[in-house]
Amino acid sequence: MIYFDNSATTKAHKEIMNTFVSVNENFWANPASIHEFGHHTNELLQSARTQVADVLKTSSEKIYFTSGGTESNNLAIFGLANKYKLRGNHVLISAIEHPSILEAAKMLQQQGFMVEKITIQKDGVISLEDLKTLIRKETILVSVMHVNNEIGSIQPINEISTIIKSHSRAVFHMDAVQSFGKMLVNFEEQHVDAITISSHKIHGLKGSGLLALKNSIEIDPILYGGGQESGIRSGTTPVPLAVSTAKAVRLANTNLKEHIDTLKKMTDELKSFLKTFSSIKIISPEITAPHIVSFSVRGVKGEVFINALQQEGIIVSTSSACSSKQTKTSHVLKAMHLDDDYIKGVIRLSLSYTNTEAEVEQFKKIFTRVMHVIKGD
Ligand SMILES: Cc1ncc(COP(=O)(O)O)c(C=O)c1O
Repeated sequence: MIYFDNSATTKAHKEIMNTFVSVNENFWANPASIHEFGHHTNELLQSARTQVADVLKTSSEKIYFTSGGTESNNLAIFGLANKYKLRGNHVLISAIEHPSILEAAKMLQQQGFMVEKITIQKDGVISLEDLKTLIRKETILVSVMHVNNEIGSIQPINEISTIIKSHSRAVFHMDAVQSFGKMLVNFEEQHVDAITISSHKIHGLKGSGLLALKNSIEIDPILYGGGQESGIRSGTTPVPLAVSTAKAVRLANTNLKEHIDTLKKMTDELKSFLKTFSSIKIISPEITAPHIVSFSVRGVKGEVFINALQQEGIIVSTSSACSSKQTKTSHVLKAMHLDDDYIKGVIRLSLSYTNTEAEVEQFKKIFTRVMHVIKGD
């Protein structure tokens, strides 16, 4: 099988699975228990927190382990808006956020906050002019994803931050689910206040992830109970998942430059190949994340290719895993004003550094054959 659907999820690394098993076997106490076993388990949990904080360049008290990207994004939207609501009630998000931001923001609006969306240009990058028009001193929260999961567009995080900071006191949250492990992500490089990471997108385990905050930022809880995770995320902390997450974060950040080069080489090759077909349009913008190639075959539904490629052992997807089972048009492609002719034919290839050039060559061969059968090209 050639698996080119790594933006939907990645295969867990064996060593991360081993960590999970080993922590379950040896440190299964409740980290909040006052006996020694609990104490040792808690030490392991805190060292996992410190490891993540070191990578992201913040302090360990500002790392909150969660059940993944969706929970971290919900925590950021509700927790930050509620924390800072005395400053104002205006919230900005981009029009191409993941549903875990879009739907949470919709709920925020129903609770009385005023939520507006920053428009997207044709290249899938937010309009900085629109941001300048929309931002005001009552803006308390801005949430913009680093890399879009459907097309791979990269948002100009530093420019966005400069605009935010010069017009408001708003907190800036960045969904880094698709960028962490494929680009440099940390609080020193990016002038952001909060970062979401999901473990299963970086060869970690599903159902785990984290929200990280800059030292000066505070947040309200969205889960109430026993006060775990500094009172921000109650519930007995799943130490095996937290330690596995820390391992996934460390591994994703190790040899990052080499991984980026490997990814770029493979996706550049795929783009050059796809450009040789006259009925194919590359949807991913010129400046794009190194792991995603989104393209469309004019006049043929994406599903037709997905099924045909699957029969040849190649796994790809339509625009995103969330929308691929739904018939409604992707909000991202709509926001980019892509022609209807192309929207239905979108296919997303998303690679991991674990893919190989041999797989890319094999894909090219099989795709050419499938294209010939379906399009006669
Ligand atoms: C950009 C982005 N944010 C958030 C999520 C949600 O992450 P999780 O699956 O861990 O809930 C995804 C998952 O596809 C994503 O691509």
